[in-house]
Amino acid sequence: MIICACGSRSGFTYTMCSEARDGFLAKGFGVEVVYPIKMNISHCTGCGSCENGRGCVIDDDMKRIYDSFATSDIVVLCTPIHYSGSSSVIKTVVDRFQTLWPKASAGPKYMACMMCGGDAEPEFRGAMHVFKALAITAGSEWLGDLRISGTDSKSPSDIREECKEFISSISSGAFM
Ligand SMILES: Cc1cc2nc3c(=O)[nH]c(=O)nc-3n(C[C@H](O)[C@H](O)[C@H](O)COP(=O)(O)O)c2cc1C
Repeated sequence: MIICACGSRSGFTYTMCSEARDGFLAKGFGVEVVYPIKMNISHCTGCGSCENGRGCVIDDDMKRIYDSFATSDIVVLCTPIHYSGSSSVIKTVVDRFQTLWPKASAGPKYMACMMCGGDAEPEFRGAMHVFKALAITAGSEWLGDLRISGTDSKSPSDIREECKEFISSISSGAFM
């Protein structure tokens, strides 16, 4: 599953996800891409109802992501950098995985991320901490991360090649 936190279909994050989807399909894998911005996903309220594996009480589109997360071999988290962190779109999804805490076993075998920022040297560490915390909580092995900088002076087609190479590198490693 690719979790694509794009804001629109004309941007860099959508391009990263399209390349990732095409790369996995070319390797013969089934791929589901989800677009949280188009889904009805509420914020985690920290109510604690999910403790001890009881699942989330909120009835919304996270159900589709929970199902896919539990059955995918690999989950790739894709986000633009917003204010030196991940976008709020994907952070909302990550927070809803409090359902996994503290059991580190219910996730995909592998996780990875793809990030892009407008600055010449974006601050990627905040998003990395969040994504790796999810991987640890899910019991997933971290396959790698793609960090694309300088998008303010690029067009989405400029980044296709590095996305292709990244997907090729992670899918020819332990995953295969
Ligand atoms: C709300 C907001 C905050 C941003 N903050 C940062 C930032 O802290 N660092 C950075 O390098 N780029 C920042 N950017 C620029 C985006 O990361 C960059 O334009 C990215 O390529 C957008 O991806 P998209 O085309 O998928 O929307 C910000 C953009 C927005 C809209």
